[in-house]
Amino acid sequence: MQLKINGKTLSGRPGQTILEVALENGIKIPALCHHPDLEIKANCRLCLVEIKGRDRLATACSTPAQAGMEVSSDSPRVKRARATNLELILGAHTKKCAICLSIHDCELLRLARTYKVKTDRLTERKKARKTYRFANAVEIDGSQCIDCQNCVEACARQGINYLKVAGAGSGQEIVPDRESGNACVYCGQCALHCPAASAQEVPAWPAVLALLKDKTKITIAQFAPSIRVSLGEEFGWPPGVNYEGQIYTVLKKLGFQHVIDVNFGADITTMTEAAELLERLGDKRAAWPLMTSCCPAWVAYAEYYHPELLPHLTTARSPHIHSAGALKSYWAKQHKIDPKQIRVVSIMPCTAKKYEAARPELKLHGQPLVDAVLTTRELAYLIKRQGIDFKKLAPSSGDKLFNLGSGAAAIYGASGGVMESALRTAVALASGESVNKKPDRSAKSRQDPSNQRLEFREVRGLAGFKEATVKVGRRQLRVGVVNGLGNFHRLLPQLKHYHYIEVMSCPGGCIGGGGQPLPTTAAIRAKRLAGLYEIDASRSVRRAHENQAMLTYYEWVKDRHLGAQLLHTKFKRSRGSLLSTVKPGKESLFNLWKTPARP
Ligand code: SF4
Ligand code: SF4
Ligand code: SF4
Ligand code: FES
Repeated sequence: MQLKINGKTLSGRPGQTILEVALENGIKIPALCHHPDLEIKANCRLCLVEIKGRDRLATACSTPAQAGMEVSSDSPRVKRARATNLELILGAHTKKCAICLSIHDCELLRLARTYKVKTDRLTERKKARKTYRFANAVEIDGSQCIDCQNCVEACARQGINYLKVAGAGSGQEIVPDRESGNACVYCGQCALHCPAASAQEVPAWPAVLALLKDKTKITIAQFAPSIRVSLGEEFGWPPGVNYEGQIYTVLKKLGFQHVIDVNFGADITTMTEAAELLERLGDKRAAWPLMTSCCPAWVAYAEYYHPELLPHLTTARSPHIHSAGALKSYWAKQHKIDPKQIRVVSIMPCTAKKYEAARPELKLHGQPLVDAVLTTRELAYLIKRQGIDFKKLAPSSGDKLFNLGSGAAAIYGASGGVMESALRTAVALASGESVNKKPDRSAKSRQDPSNQRLEFREVRGLAGFKEATVKVGRRQLRVGVVNGLGNFHRLLPQLKHYHYIEVMSCPGGCIGGGGQPLPTTAAIRAKRLAGLYEIDASRSVRRAHENQAMLTYYEWVKDRHLGAQLLHTKFKRSRGSLLSTVKPGKESLFNLWKTPARP
């Protein structure tokens, strides 16, 4: 099919909208509420176009492209209408640019400049709206909301339905649906789909700046597996390319004394979880299936919606909690440092990790193991705020505290990666391969190819639900992998047929996490995912139990019987979301690292 947009003859496929044809051909049409992962809602009305022969302007995001169409996206009439709609949107969006995470990359501001729209001509009609804060993880500031409803749909796709539209017309507001009996699980998918910085992570960056100023303490940064293939996008680089060298450099530039890789912690999670899998295989009364627990939004979901599943969750702590624990115990002891002098900041793709870090059971001697969590977006904001040109940074390798992470750790950011990592180790250990410092390459072990199995491609990929049968020792185990909480219901009725299940709350796993750069779409997730598997394939050590530095630490913990304090965690039934509200004008950026009391 051929049509013309702005005088250019273009090809389109049946079923495509005008906006899709335009984007594919490099023609930019402003489209705030459009998101390829979501339904077309046509709420912002910025994508207006003029179609020859039609009286009324049309929204490009919802109008099917047709053969022979002649479309103008930049005629004087279109520009006038777009400017009017933009001004109305800006009247609904209270300007808080000075404290806004999106200030360096704000589409609304860019459009206001392009269309020469005064941002302050209309009264800010939502100024008096309050902010709803979900634990210390996510908040929705009603005073900035442009009513696109993307957050409501994103939450519904997660199967949570915690957000609803209240009121109508100019009184419309996005509110938590407290009567529904549903509870927020802090996944941040609402924030990932918000075009107006109204739904966002609760900012921890002011608290982190304060930590960095305090030179009486040692402040250490640790960064998650998936952010190395996504942070570059914030600076115009392609998704899926590994920028871990630049991340080491920039974190040092920001003032962190040491920088470590959470991949070290992921190897501890794998080791602990694989050991638990093997232990359950030898226990006739064990609860099956074993389920992963390194995704805190999934844990929050299970604790509220399915407390009957809590005995199934592995007690292995999540990677950043493990590596922070190693810093504040083993490393502190080795270097004769009081753990109270150490501050650990995690850089995560995740909003729920903020909530996890504040969980009371994850403390050591009364102190949190992780002192603050920044999302990928917050790190990008800090880099831009400090005027650092990320693209010009030379890569570095950081400190040699615990920087060894296996290839198995690198794939934690992809759906299926946690399970594949645990299977690599469980299969090897079940075959008798030793965990001491020399991996067993004996002839006996090599005889059975399944003992040497490294890749489990059947659990990889972006499909919302995957399953496979794998051999671990002499047993055939049925395994299932879910990404996107909304897909969990497909598995629920069949649960008893499985031995091992991975659940990651965000679509695609952490590569699609609620704290990742905007936009995050299926195409971008696919590139980030491919980047992680490339890192895995490039590593000489690809199985957690071959990571010698991790084994040294693991044995140190075991020898001192510190497993309960450092390796394992507990879960408990929850009574609902941690919800608080902030009155307009009361946002105090330096007061934000507060968690509401647990209900
Ligand atoms: S954080 Fe997740 S569960 Fe909570 S409101 Fe947002 S999308 Fe829904
Ligand atoms: S909070 Fe954001 S995503 Fe939700 S309706 Fe408002 S502008 Fe849209
Ligand atoms: S999938 Fe990853 S980013 Fe998403 S909530 Fe879970 S841990 Fe966080
Ligand atoms: S993008 Fe088309 S109406 Fe918002």
